Amino acid sequence: MAIRDILIIPEKKLRLKSELVKTIDARLRALVDDMFATMYEAPGIGLAAIQIGEPLRLITLDVAGKDDPKEPRVFINPEIVWASDETSTYEEGCLSIPEYYEEVDRPASVKVKFLDIDGKEQELTADGLLSTCLQHEIDHLNGVLFIDHISKLKRDMVMKKFKKAARKSGGDGPLADDKEPSHHIG
Ligand code: NI
Repeated sequence: MAIRDILIIPEKKLRLKSELVKTIDARLRALVDDMFATMYEAPGIGLAAIQIGEPLRLITLDVAGKDDPKEPRVFINPEIVWASDETSTYEEGCLSIPEYYEEVDRPASVKVKFLDIDGKEQELTADGLLSTCLQHEIDHLNGVLFIDHISKLKRDMVMKKFKKAARKSGGDGPLADDKEPSHHIG
């Protein structure tokens, strides 16, 4: 199990469309272990494989409160098969866009089909934070970032800031201070 580097915008890989997982083998399980280690260390509540440079349709999540027992969840090849008309707004952040938070509207509830780590088909209807987080992570599998859901003006501003920081530091985020990330979704 290893803590891996998380890709930060403007890294182009974050815009890739990830590919379906074809085989659930020891290699994939090792990747899942790395993803949990990286996600908990960050700390974040969700991580898509592409965020550590692996273009596979694979997500790790844990939306349990920080004082509650861990609830690690793995979603392989997840697909949203239903979304509510009702929307909810949540202030999102992303481990690939450190220290930037903005409100995003999304369907309040979604139904997701996926494979579990044993390759068994599963279905989950989620609402609240789990729903938001699942939609945010599934977006990553399609090369979509939460800043794509905000105004172009705000998106351009944040992209500009991170491009400038990447030029200066050779790729690291702009705010390398010790601030506690409070709600990085992943
Ligand atoms: Ni994210």
